[in-house]
Amino acid sequence: MIDLKYINKIDHIYPYPAKYTVSMLENYIKKYTKPNDIILDPFVGSGTTLLAARWLERKSIGFDINPIAYHISKVKTNTYILEDKKIIKKFIEYLVTSFNDIDKLEFELINYESINHWFKYNVIKALSAIKYCINSNIKEERIIDLCNLAFSYVVLPLSNQESDTRYKAIQKEDLSINEILNIYINKLEEMLNIVILGKDLNTKSKVYLLDALKINSILKTESIDFLITSPPYPNTYDYYLYHKHRMLFLGYDFKPVMETEIGSRREFSSLKKDSEKFTQDLFNIFKSANETLKNDAYIVVIIGDGKIAGEKYDSKEHMIQIAKKLNWELIEEKYTELDKTSKKFQQSFRTKGKKEYFLVFKKRGKNE
Ligand SMILES: C[S@@+](CC[C@H](N)C(=O)[O-])C[C@H]1O[C@@H](n2cnc3c(N)ncnc32)[C@H](O)[C@@H]1O
Repeated sequence: MIDLKYINKIDHIYPYPAKYTVSMLENYIKKYTKPNDIILDPFVGSGTTLLAARWLERKSIGFDINPIAYHISKVKTNTYILEDKKIIKKFIEYLVTSFNDIDKLEFELINYESINHWFKYNVIKALSAIKYCINSNIKEERIIDLCNLAFSYVVLPLSNQESDTRYKAIQKEDLSINEILNIYINKLEEMLNIVILGKDLNTKSKVYLLDALKINSILKTESIDFLITSPPYPNTYDYYLYHKHRMLFLGYDFKPVMETEIGSRREFSSLKKDSEKFTQDLFNIFKSANETLKNDAYIVVIIGDGKIAGEKYDSKEHMIQIAKKLNWELIEEKYTELDKTSKKFQQSFRTKGKKEYFLVFKKRGKNE
């Protein structure tokens, strides 16, 4: 068995807002499942559930509409073998040689509205050339996943954006094309060295880049043993915005992601939607997932309170109403104070008394 310290290293390979940790899941997975059971996470984010499941030898399936979540989850659950070091080494040599004569490469500059506000020309040029080299040189899907993840990782530090969560362009130092390449190579090597040790984690995992509403059209009825998830906390984040430049550099359109993301600040602070909309969205997704759960399956939902239109949104109360409609019985609950655990939340979104709940339900059969 691989130790937790090592799994935590893989788990923290990429920052992700409001991610939970493998150790938070360990007891739930051990208590409510057995080896080879299938675990579902409808809001998989950075793949923590999938990684924990693999480590504990359970199969797992995750859904997320955010392409960056999808890529992180894939890399965390791919199997990388020592041979892959050689492939990456060769790729790096190819990158370095190609960059010596970068103008001979036939790449197109990545382009989208306002790109020049957020990125210096050298950064756009070097990243466009790296993307071209990944696409034209690598064949193995797991290696493409890793190269793309390292690529998306360096987009933000190389941008003019002040920080991950401060969406303001500031003056940053000029970097040469080769300095930018080195930043990418260092990140790629660092990530490879982390994931390569996960070679013994062979349990199956699958990630879908899909709206969780579609779970019941993808998975078989009553095929899932256990559901554990953390949905977005209402009006707290915009995951699409956090990952916008990363998505655009990888060639994804961020608009469909923005429109499908539930619980976002865009919906409840900018578009001023009613809080009922969030409850309905959560219900629809859990209803879809419910059809795929076996009778008597356990469901763990980790969710925090929010604040919508100045009013506290009590996530536990709403989750209990949803559970009632689905015939889920609440069997265990605990909470922590959100203000203490989450220093990342903006001051304006903090409300005294906001809690993060750990709710355990049990699905009851139709006639129970
Ligand atoms: C709190 S995060 C999950 C974090 C995850 N537990 C982790 O450890 O990384 C919530 C996730 O829900 C995703 N999401 C929002 N709306 C969705 C939808 N309609 N279908 C699938 N995923 C969605 C967001 O993209 C985000 O990644």
